[in-house]
Amino acid sequence: MTDQRSDLMSAIVSLCKRRGFIFQSSEIYGGLNSCWDYGPLGVELKRNVKEAWWNAMVRRRRDIVGIDASILMHPKVWEASGHLKGFTDPLVDCKNCKERFRADHLANLDKCPKCGMSNTFTEVRKFNLMFKTFMGPVEDDSAVVYMRPETAQGIFVNFLNVQQAARAKLPFGIAQIGKSFRNEITPGNFTYRTREFEQMEMEFFVRPGDDETWYEYWRTERLSWYASLGIKRENLRLRDHEKNELAHYAKACVDVEYRFPFGWSELEGIANRTDFDLKQHSQHSGKSLALFDEETKQHIFPYVIEPAAGADRATLAFLVDAYAVEGDGEDKRTVLRFHPSLAPIKVAVLPLVKRDGMPEIAEKIYTDLLAHSIQSFIDVNSSIGRRYARQDEAGTPFCITVDGQTLQDGTVTIRERDSRVQYRAASAGIVETITAKLRDASR
Ligand code: GAP
Repeated sequence: MTDQRSDLMSAIVSLCKRRGFIFQSSEIYGGLNSCWDYGPLGVELKRNVKEAWWNAMVRRRRDIVGIDASILMHPKVWEASGHLKGFTDPLVDCKNCKERFRADHLANLDKCPKCGMSNTFTEVRKFNLMFKTFMGPVEDDSAVVYMRPETAQGIFVNFLNVQQAARAKLPFGIAQIGKSFRNEITPGNFTYRTREFEQMEMEFFVRPGDDETWYEYWRTERLSWYASLGIKRENLRLRDHEKNELAHYAKACVDVEYRFPFGWSELEGIANRTDFDLKQHSQHSGKSLALFDEETKQHIFPYVIEPAAGADRATLAFLVDAYAVEGDGEDKRTVLRFHPSLAPIKVAVLPLVKRDGMPEIAEKIYTDLLAHSIQSFIDVNSSIGRRYARQDEAGTPFCITVDGQTLQDGTVTIRERDSRVQYRAASAGIVETITAKLRDASR
């Protein structure tokens, strides 16, 4: 990472802590490596990201339904999926400095990049990334269960349950948002690679033969989703996997990548998983997951196109892309230019001064906004300039200021975050005005 890009990342990490987006987990005990907690602004931002995904992938579509499967699953699931055998990273330890590396991330295995010593690496070992725990009071081999390393398998094992309950016909999808766990060897880059994270995955079941068309469709669709929520197009790209990079189940895979300060990195993978998972689970469970296709009047194993995204990675990308430091001197400001539908606070209500009835009018507007479930905030302290600056830094798209003129004609000032343009609107209809602005911005 260049100094400038690494400074940018440090500035974002520090803003996240100061403003309550993201804290180090268990900080008072020195922190727990690679675990992070979302604070008041962060939890709203991440919920909005998940909501935007759910709306795009489930609520606005007639061909996709949702599911919420449990994290702990029958251990045979991971045998069938190939995770017990194949979900490993190649690992080496430096015998001199004791640092651990992923062998496939090292340019050469002759010299340790940390301590600079030559020929100090151990043999490459395969390290399974699944976290193990025990179910029930006895901690023996028969009680071992795994924390799921992907949400996808909860969808595959429920494939026929969902298809029959929803009376779904091909092509159709099943979507899920939930926590996954991987004992990553090299977590890092803030929330980019962690050991506990949230995935947003959708398995789209299609007739064999239609898979390549749907693969093309989901590549375009998923790239557009990030752009539609404000990520600059020049910071997004699609990267096709080489044959030797493909997971054991995939016929083709492409990553949606974002240009993070630490380089182009994966936000989401879109894979053609073929009929691998449904066939594996049929074999291992002894219960066929083949579907009776009304059109061909045959039992078939559908192919699966899987757009698999990370809620934490997407949230980090939205944060990084929104971050800007603008202007000079008095005019300098830090602003998070979130898309309004992602902004943790939509509106801040600010009485110009703490007298002449302005706080009371502001309080009434604030109460009205809250009653309409519009994420809002009231701030009565310090100069109006400083209060605007605080909201710019939180990414709040609109401020409503109650001022002298409000007392005369019942209008308030609306100030827009990005342009800093100010104009007046009637305080009586302010909830409708803001609702319309938020709706327009989301189109
Ligand atoms: N079901 C397919 C699957 O899990 P993946 O590429 O391993 O594919 C999908 O994971 C997405 O989950 C990634 O693109 C990323 O956004 C997120 N993800 C995976 N590992 C992660 C980690 N250690 N920390 C944060 N997010 C992660």
